[in-house]
Amino acid sequence: MAVTKVGRVVLTVTDLDEAVRHYTETMGLSVTTRRAGEAYLRLPGDQDHHNLVLQQSDRASLASFGLKMSDPGDLEELELVAGRAGADVRRVSAGEHPGLGEAVVFRLPSEHEVWAYHDIEHIGWAGGMENPDPVPEDATAGTVHAQRIDHVAICAPDVGDLATFLTEVLDFDSSEILIGPDGRPGATWMYCTNTMHDIAVVPGPGAGLHHVSFAADSRAAVINGIDTLRHRGVPTMDFGLTRHGIAGVTTTYFHDPSGIRNELFFGPYPTPGVPGQVPPVEWEMAEFARGAFYYENELDMAFMTEIT
Ligand SMILES: [Fe+2]
Repeated sequence: MAVTKVGRVVLTVTDLDEAVRHYTETMGLSVTTRRAGEAYLRLPGDQDHHNLVLQQSDRASLASFGLKMSDPGDLEELELVAGRAGADVRRVSAGEHPGLGEAVVFRLPSEHEVWAYHDIEHIGWAGGMENPDPVPEDATAGTVHAQRIDHVAICAPDVGDLATFLTEVLDFDSSEILIGPDGRPGATWMYCTNTMHDIAVVPGPGAGLHHVSFAADSRAAVINGIDTLRHRGVPTMDFGLTRHGIAGVTTTYFHDPSGIRNELFFGPYPTPGVPGQVPPVEWEMAEFARGAFYYENELDMAFMTEIT
């Protein structure tokens, strides 16, 4: 069983039209399906029908996120393993949701709903799948050119418990661990793909979302992205351009119109091979300010504690 990526993120938003405008005109996604109360969007660096689903609601939240499995048989295996680990598991039939095949749905110990799936409608690259032009028409001109969903940063009342579940049930591993005062993980950066994190786990309330991160294709693209955000009147919260000491990535944070924190970043290091092949870096609490914000070398508690 293998998770190939965090393939879809489902957000509830308080104004669907405004949210669609933000994720298309500012971020560079395109709408593949729009129906009453929800919109399905995809990123240019991904071939699937959708990577982001926006649902109208009276509050902003992370409704669920999706893990794309490498083999159709993984769903059955996951049903067994997650059930054995104490999760309630249900099935969603193929075709119930636009573009999506059968899914196995369960909750993590942190209360986040996860949809594991293998089949999703294939759309392909913007330049086509046969003899593509490497320079296709730029449908994302004027946006920050977000390429892919890189990771979700989710909250757990007990970081160690969730890390154990992700490791034992879903075969994730940690690339970086903040060691808490009690010697257990205070936060952890976990991967299933070939970059250093697909899920970051930070302390906070169950089902909470800290941010959804979008990959830029260069460091310069993050800088240019900040220009675009400013130009479109999106404040870059909570910093302008900065780097995380953790993995040294170049990053900026801001909010979508419903207050959901987005990240645009570049530069995670590779974690080649299967999980377990890259021994984790450990951070001491005393050094964490540098690990979190390399330039500022201080923790912004509003940033740390503001959760959707
Ligand atoms: Fe992040």
